Amino acid sequence: MPLALITGASRGIGAATARALADTHSLLLGGRDTAALESLAAELPDARPWPVELTDPTALAAATADLAEVDLLVHSAGIARVGPLAEATAARWREMYEVNVIAVVELTRLLLPALRTTKGQVILINSGAGQNAHPGWGPYAASKFALRAYADVLRGEETPTSGIRVTTIFPGRTATDMQRTVRADEGADYDPTRYLRPESVAAAIRTAALATPEAHFTEITVRPT
Ligand SMILES: NC(=O)c1ccc[n+]([C@@H]2O[C@H](COP(=O)([O-])OP(=O)(O)OC[C@H]3O[C@@H](n4cnc5c(N)ncnc54)[C@H](OP(=O)(O)O)[C@@H]3O)[C@@H](O)[C@H]2O)c1
Repeated sequence: MPLALITGASRGIGAATARALADTHSLLLGGRDTAALESLAAELPDARPWPVELTDPTALAAATADLAEVDLLVHSAGIARVGPLAEATAARWREMYEVNVIAVVELTRLLLPALRTTKGQVILINSGAGQNAHPGWGPYAASKFALRAYADVLRGEETPTSGIRVTTIFPGRTATDMQRTVRADEGADYDPTRYLRPESVAAAIRTAALATPEAHFTEITVRPT
């Protein structure tokens, strides 16, 4: 079976993506919560934990060193905080960019040879905040706009030469721990029934991942009804 590496697979959209791809892919489950990764791996037919701190370039290089062929790389790991720019310190901006941008860029760079070998695919979980930047969403929206630009350049550089397909998924609010944090930052209730289910975002990811070879899903937007 083709090999998929999914970051952020210990929870939320990444864990739902692992379940959605379990019948079509061998899975490497990225995250830091080793117990959660082991528990998910145990319920899937062909999955292994891939625990790594994504903001540690040395750890990333070590964790990717043995991966000669990767068919699919799904970047789901991310962090979000909401608040006015007046309170967004340099540390807040750096932390957001480290996880949401630099880690994605560096992991992709390290795996490019393995992805070129398979004419593989990179799927980046962006956000509605990467399409429209609203008050309160400064560092997060900026990081997701950067991620969108990165994906567009990666597609332009790789698809014509190596055949790697690059898909950006733009989900709206989704019922995960991240959304619980966002709602707390907003001083509002968290009602998961108002949001997308992670499984619904994973269904869009699966659609892009299982596209026929001549089809390239470049962008998919998923909004709650
Ligand atoms: N939830 C939403 O409303 C929403 C909407 C639009 C877009 N998104 C995007 O969707 C993606 C997934 O979000 P989610 O809601 O599923 O988030 P989540 O439930 O909070 O899960 C975040 C995941 O990212 C991993 N992670 C965070 N920092 C990491 C680091 N430094 N190193 C390694 N792993 C790290 C976490 O791993 P550990 O727990 O193991 O540390 C966890 O698996 C994100 O990119 C997010 O921006 C979410």
